Amino acid sequence: MGLTAVRPSWAELPTELRELVTAHLGSTVVSADVQGGGFSPGVAARLVLQNSDRSFVKAIPAAHVLAGKYLIEAETGERLPPSVPSPRLRWHGSSAGWVVLLFDDIDGRHADLSPGSADIPTVISALTAMADLLTPSPLPDLQPSSATRAGLLHGWGDLATSPPADLDWWGREHLSDLAVLEAVWPAHADGLTLVHGDIRPDNLLVASGGAYVVDWAQPSQGAAWQDIADLMPHLIMAGHSPVGAEKTLVGIPYWDLAPPEVITSYAAAYAGYWTRMSRQPSPPGVPNLRAYQRRAAGAAIAWTRYRTGW
Ligand SMILES: Nc1ncnc2c1ncn2[C@@H]1O[C@H](COP(=O)(O)OP(=O)(O)OP(=O)(O)O)[C@@H](O)[C@H]1O
Ligand SMILES: [Mg+2]
Repeated sequence: MGLTAVRPSWAELPTELRELVTAHLGSTVVSADVQGGGFSPGVAARLVLQNSDRSFVKAIPAAHVLAGKYLIEAETGERLPPSVPSPRLRWHGSSAGWVVLLFDDIDGRHADLSPGSADIPTVISALTAMADLLTPSPLPDLQPSSATRAGLLHGWGDLATSPPADLDWWGREHLSDLAVLEAVWPAHADGLTLVHGDIRPDNLLVASGGAYVVDWAQPSQGAAWQDIADLMPHLIMAGHSPVGAEKTLVGIPYWDLAPPEVITSYAAAYAGYWTRMSRQPSPPGVPNLRAYQRRAAGAAIAWTRYRTGW
């Protein structure tokens, strides 16, 4: 994945904030490599320090609409067990009107989910270990997935109230059935696992020691199949057919035991969500999100068509 986010550089941050970060790191920053993954307009940079240590910094103005997500990520990071394959949160705080988080740096790259990629078993093993370690959830006060994720992951019902003129024939033909289908999965989304909720290749870093899951900004408590099933549209976007993508997940207990009709509903919900969201105006400072969502809608529709035969 290339540069998707438009991010400020380390040097553009207020001096006071950079000094505070430096104080917490215990050494001055000699280089800051801005990371392009994701879509948020916040700072995301790999820092190399004078004492040869490295760290990863995320920062966003406290007044930004996404700042609350950074605080959620900080609260989650503080309470993740150290054995979870995620970079350790070193410190978080605020200064000069910015929220800032410091993590251990992962020397890795975004997971390659294309057919035959050796990253796929590496990612599956990390996600499976993560679900095992996070059941029961170490954050028992989180909202259930049925409240948080289900409130977002839908679209056909909304589109049915006023079908957009550019909706393709398949969407028009099946709109009312898709609206019914996408409403099934939330009743099966609850469970005891801490669910990441935003599994995609740019939140999966593959390093020499295995895969690491970053960006814990959308956690919920629920059924563990969600973080595994989230690989599906991304496997398809990376070049798998729907049948080929599902084959890569066979053998993962969380996938194998999920009721098939729930997974079909989940596929339809993703298709509807991305079909709906890709038609919204671009959020300020996030120019690449809607084009990505159009591609993602295509993948989720292919998955839904495969599972329904529609
Ligand atoms: N600990 C880390 N070490 C090295 N690189 C990292 C680390 N955490 C994240 N990255 C890189 O920075 C990118 C952005 O990080 P992250 O996904 O946390 O930010 P974000 O701004 O929340 O993005 P999103 O738009 O996905 O919400 C990731 O795609 C990854 O390439
Ligand atoms: Mg991200």
